[in-house]
Amino acid sequence: MGIAGFEVMRHDVTFPLYVEVDQIYNLACPATPVHYQFDPVQTTKTSVIGAINMLGLAKRVKAKVFQASTSEVYGDPTVHPQTEEYRGNVNPLGPRACYDEGKRAAETLFFDYHRQHRTRIKVVRIFNTYGPRMHPNDGRVVSNFIVQALQGQPITLYGDGSQTRAFCFVSDLVEGFIRLMDSPDEVTGPINMGNPHEISVRELAERIIRLTKSTSAIEYRPLPQDDPTQRCPDITLARKLLDWQPTVALEDGLQRTIDYFAGLLTERGKSIL
Ligand SMILES: NC(=O)c1ccc[n+]([C@@H]2O[C@H](COP(=O)([O-])OP(=O)(O)OC[C@H]3O[C@@H](n4cnc5c(N)ncnc54)[C@H](O)[C@@H]3O)[C@@H](O)[C@H]2O)c1
Repeated sequence: MGIAGFEVMRHDVTFPLYVEVDQIYNLACPATPVHYQFDPVQTTKTSVIGAINMLGLAKRVKAKVFQASTSEVYGDPTVHPQTEEYRGNVNPLGPRACYDEGKRAAETLFFDYHRQHRTRIKVVRIFNTYGPRMHPNDGRVVSNFIVQALQGQPITLYGDGSQTRAFCFVSDLVEGFIRLMDSPDEVTGPINMGNPHEISVRELAERIIRLTKSTSAIEYRPLPQDDPTQRCPDITLARKLLDWQPTVALEDGLQRTIDYFAGLLTERGKSIL
């Protein structure tokens, strides 16, 4: 990388890691349904054994440890918007459970290490996040719609599009992570991070068609099993404890993401799919 003191290691978190560090950000986990359902047993192992290994490392070297949890811990929520107190509505047997329950078990481990070993923990529940450098083909709604729109292909919309999501731009989220890591030790989380501005998936598709000036039509497909109908963070706690809230408007963030994918398509053509 050419940055003094920077070292990159390739490591599977399901195996112990021995390094000397002050802070650990654990973001390791297959993160989209396409990826986490490909090998569901490995997904649960990554969250659970990965958490044990990262917490073990933090305990050993007395580091602060950050966990990328998820709004999926709320499952298909019956409370709206979701606050951190809400305990969720997860189907423990469904196809998303390897991810949802894996992340829930990881949270349990973080809080048990904190209570039992006084490990300094920082747990964030991330809501839908998007931005440049997403993988073009990992099945996320924003990247799917943008790539389809730029290629003039039908926009595949699951369900009738009335389900809502709230999208946070990546730079806002990263700012929140750093603020949480730098906060006093009593601030453990779990703390929601995401954009509380909610829109329907159909409206997202229409905006992307407009911003890309695409000729694509919307094509409706059946809703996948256990797909949440509503997802919107209550970020009162993040505002209060970290003075954090998203600053990038959806329109700006989408435009920056569209510019990225347009560049990728020019560079690599259809081979990105
Ligand atoms: N992007 C979102 O909207 C979102 C929402 C909620 C939670 N999260 C969480 O944030 C984290 C990062 O997600 P992302 O969106 O950047 O996805 P991503 O796919 O870009 O990053 C996940 C990374 O984890 C790595 N990984 C998977 N299994 C691993 C293992 N066993 N050992 C080491 N590395 C492993 C993958 O190689 C990948 O680089 C994930 O933990 C995800 O669950 C993301």
